[in-house]
Amino acid sequence: MNDIGPIPHAPLHTGAMPLFEFHRTLLSDVSAQDEFRRALCAIIHGGESVLDVGTGTGLHAMFACQAGARIVYAVDQSPIVELAKAIGAANGFDERITFIYGAIQDTELPERVDVITTHLGLSDTLAILPDVAARHLRPTGVVVPASADLFVAPVECFRADEQIRFWDKPHYGLDFTPVRPLASRSRYSCRITVDDLLACGARVASLNFRKPSTRLQATAQFEIHRDGVLHGIGLWYIEHLIDGISISTGPSSAVDPKLWPNQFLPADEPIHVRQGDTIGIHVEAAECLAGDWRWQILV
Ligand SMILES: C[S@@+](CC[C@H](N)C(=O)[O-])C[C@H]1O[C@@H](n2cnc3c(N)ncnc32)[C@H](O)[C@@H]1O
Repeated sequence: MNDIGPIPHAPLHTGAMPLFEFHRTLLSDVSAQDEFRRALCAIIHGGESVLDVGTGTGLHAMFACQAGARIVYAVDQSPIVELAKAIGAANGFDERITFIYGAIQDTELPERVDVITTHLGLSDTLAILPDVAARHLRPTGVVVPASADLFVAPVECFRADEQIRFWDKPHYGLDFTPVRPLASRSRYSCRITVDDLLACGARVASLNFRKPSTRLQATAQFEIHRDGVLHGIGLWYIEHLIDGISISTGPSSAVDPKLWPNQFLPADEPIHVRQGDTIGIHVEAAECLAGDWRWQILV
């Protein structure tokens, strides 16, 4: 088993602000973290072994201890784990949490565990969790989150469209239009709000975090619910931590969009739509929803 250390000190002690800022933002994302605490309390009753993948400041490892875990293996590939160890000790959990510095892919544990928890976002969870569960989870064990649903909707989003229109205009008296075709075939991170929606979202995939992810290929039909300009496709997900406890990153979600942004897939050109029109959306993505996406809006 790889014990904590050696940990490079420089990233924490010089230029450390970005790391602290990231974890301060995570700790401040109360609506998501409260759901993790509820889920861990619901499945840990006393005596369980837990693996926290990407423990950060150790928050979920400490939630697991508060719920009654016998031992928690708290793994992180970032030097933040050095501080997590100090935080664990400050809260009296040093006897029950084993902090491990390293990538989970290279980590060996002395036992299989009852619970695996992770808070990595959709794509990384899909990429990491099935293999981690196969290697480290007992046959009766539980993973948190267990699954996720992926949604798409046609959206009017002038904020996102502005990023594409940028390339249509001259800047400093110079022509940048050669970028435009590529810009309108790229994915953008942005917040999709309820006001942006031109139709209700449709679920295009249900993903089980115990199973290796396969290529996504899905088509959905929509009835437009108001007149507007269709700028592109909004994309978000709901993570189901356990039965009955979920975290949505969708339009009415309270989670921090800086941490868990939605995606915007632009139309080639804005499309004027009327209430009652029907349109189709086709999306394709590689395993784990990583890499290049392809999409089409069918009017
Ligand atoms: C979004 S943070 C979550 C931290 C903490 N669980 C929380 O909710 O506040 C993800 C953490 O996972 C770590 N991480 C990402 N990929 C990892 C991997 N393959 N192995 C170990 N740690 C990883 C990152 O360094 C980061 O600290």
